[in-house]
Amino acid sequence: MILFENVTKTYPRTTRPALDDVNLEIPRGEFAFVVGTSGSGKSTMMQLVMKEQDVSRGRILVAGRDLDRLPERKVPALRREIGCVFQDFRLLPNKTVFQNVAYALQVLGSSRARIRQTVPETLELVGLAGMEKRLPHQLSGGEQQRVAIARAFVNRPPILLADEPTGNLDPDTSLGIVQLLDRINRTGTTVVMATHDTVTVNAMRKRVIRLDGGVLVSDMEAGDYTTGSIPRVRLGEEGPARPVADLQVPDGYDDGVPAAYAPGGGPAEGPGATGDDEQGERAGLAPIGRDADEPRAKGGIFRRHKAVQTSDR
Ligand SMILES: Nc1ncnc2c1ncn2[C@@H]1O[C@H](COP(=O)(O)OP(=O)(O)O)[C@@H](O)[C@H]1O
Ligand SMILES: [Mg+2]
Repeated sequence: MILFENVTKTYPRTTRPALDDVNLEIPRGEFAFVVGTSGSGKSTMMQLVMKEQDVSRGRILVAGRDLDRLPERKVPALRREIGCVFQDFRLLPNKTVFQNVAYALQVLGSSRARIRQTVPETLELVGLAGMEKRLPHQLSGGEQQRVAIARAFVNRPPILLADEPTGNLDPDTSLGIVQLLDRINRTGTTVVMATHDTVTVNAMRKRVIRLDGGVLVSDMEAGDYTTGSIPRVRLGEEGPARPVADLQVPDGYDDGVPAAYAPGGGPAEGPGATGDDEQGERAGLAPIGRDADEPRAKGGIFRRHKAVQTSDR
């Protein structure tokens, strides 16, 4: 779903690349943290996915589109498939909660009937039912970020990017926000969250991609921010080439309200969330690779997908 192949980004009038030869695959439906100190390239990575910046070298595929070959007129369609959340919320200060969320649908030309149905459903999903008429300044920081998440998700994009969404929030509130992103992820939306919030990352046991000075220095399944855990398969280490078309979002992407959103339907526990698999893996078994892959295929948390090689370079 999101694929980086040897991606280097050097901004004009700078010498050191902001991203340096990054290879990465984030399959559809995954939740991945991107961690690293300030200046390590997290936001650059997000901006490249949205095509707000262009790569200097390498290739990025998003939902089957090669961004370098994507004509300018198709960029809006790309962005419709990517919801974005930022550290500073970016709400419209003079619009109510309802209007802030509705606005995202209005600009897409949605009908009033659809807006009247979808906005309350989404506000309920993010835990803001009953706050429709409030203005942003009448909300806490955590509530404002929930509005921003509702706005990013109201058209049910297949990808949600969150760039330090908890950067302005206290730890308890941050955890609530990440749990909300997790809930959104469980409906099938791919979530990529840039952060340096160690507590939150460690609490979630998700994939952790670490950048250091623009270099991808580690990529861990069920990772821990500080100690790390399980190295992941690197791009191209295994498996035959898979055609690029396989990475495409199917037509008729389901933009209905997923079952997990039904009132009272809380998030289900995912496979591998607890249990022996993870324990065993943390005990220091060998990295996954072509040789190690077979016995692990039954193991649970690893084999949701395989690394892909889409070019023969
Ligand atoms: N628009 C830009 N022009 C020039 N340099 C930039 C620009 N945006 C980011 N950079 C540089 O690229 C590097 C990575 O920045 P960024 O992606 O914002 O990192 P992070 O989000 O991890 O803090 C930094 O050295 C930063 O100064
Ligand atoms: Mg940043």
